[in-house]
Amino acid sequence: MTITQNCTPTTFQPRVRRIDEAKRASAVEALARTLEARTPLTPEFYTDEGIFDLEMELIFHREWHYVGHIDRIPNTGDYFTTRVGRIPVLIVRGRDGKINAFVNVCRHRGHEVAQGEGNERTLQCHFHAWTWTLDGELRGAPRYDPEANFDKANFPLFRGTVETFGPFIFVNFGQDPEPFTSSPAFSEIDEKSKSFNHDFGAFELKNRWQHEIKANWKLILDISVECYHCASVHPEFASSYETGENYRVDLFQDWQLHISPPKGQLDDMVNANFIYHIWPHTQFFIQGPIMNVVRNIPVSTTTTLKEIQSFALPGTSDEVLAAREKSMDLALTQDYDAGESVQSTMPAGYFGGAPLLKDKEAGLIWAQECMYRAFSGKPWHGTASTP
Ligand code: FES
Ligand SMILES: [Fe+2]
Repeated sequence: MTITQNCTPTTFQPRVRRIDEAKRASAVEALARTLEARTPLTPEFYTDEGIFDLEMELIFHREWHYVGHIDRIPNTGDYFTTRVGRIPVLIVRGRDGKINAFVNVCRHRGHEVAQGEGNERTLQCHFHAWTWTLDGELRGAPRYDPEANFDKANFPLFRGTVETFGPFIFVNFGQDPEPFTSSPAFSEIDEKSKSFNHDFGAFELKNRWQHEIKANWKLILDISVECYHCASVHPEFASSYETGENYRVDLFQDWQLHISPPKGQLDDMVNANFIYHIWPHTQFFIQGPIMNVVRNIPVSTTTTLKEIQSFALPGTSDEVLAAREKSMDLALTQDYDAGESVQSTMPAGYFGGAPLLKDKEAGLIWAQECMYRAFSGKPWHGTASTP
């Protein structure tokens, strides 16, 4: 029997999940009500699968996301894998030196093209050995009949858009995204960081590790954008840094800046604890010679991965780095305990109602405004943000 293949690959488009418009409309209404009432989000925002689906499509699959530092891929062929929302992602340094972001899904039958990290001359899927160049062009498809109307040119890897901000790699898997570096956040962070003598590019990558948290990604976000909890949840941090009236939070459209001076030394900006928080999930912590870059990776409504990278200025001792990694891990673990506790009470239906503090919890209102904008496509009119 002769089997004739008739490939019509040019008509293939990646499946875009349909957006449940009714769900989206009710979520937008709920967000508006919450913003008007200045309360926490309602429990379904932390538990409902439909809301999670909307977040994946409206935030994670079409906004800019930090995925890693350029030190992870200094040479041609260096690569690492990660995920953005539900999209498995392969970041690789191409032959032309440019950074490529591909959907890490084989065009044959869906195996991951690459796993983990490493260096390769080509990108070969381990299932049936289809092979792409580092620039995503299909070069080999073993034993595919040349008479089968099969044109390799029709099967490049799907790609996202890449931009770098200093040493940080950002990707966007939406259609024709607005350039990240044209957003106000880019110039604002650039300007602020310079004013504090923070040179992100001067830090060297040292370590990277991950935590799994049994809580919704927004609970972890909520905890990370307020320090109202610091005195009770982080006594060690609160004994060394200002966490009360002298804890400063500046809110901008797509990012926040937190500054906590050393206890009793309000003018000591060299040793203050800084957090540059970029919507939706990336934080750059700077404390003296150490920088930590942290990002939340949502896995499900109730599971979030946290990736932590630590960096040090040249000449920093191993002891200083280890001490900061330890204090970072302690603070994060304390946050996770709080977040997991809140997640555990959600199904009971008693969560919510209390007003958010206008100043101490303004970071949560900022997050709600960002959610509202992503879900509705419009800015929130009753802004809580300060410029
Ligand atoms: S699934 Fe990748 S080569 Fe078959
Ligand atoms: Fe915290």
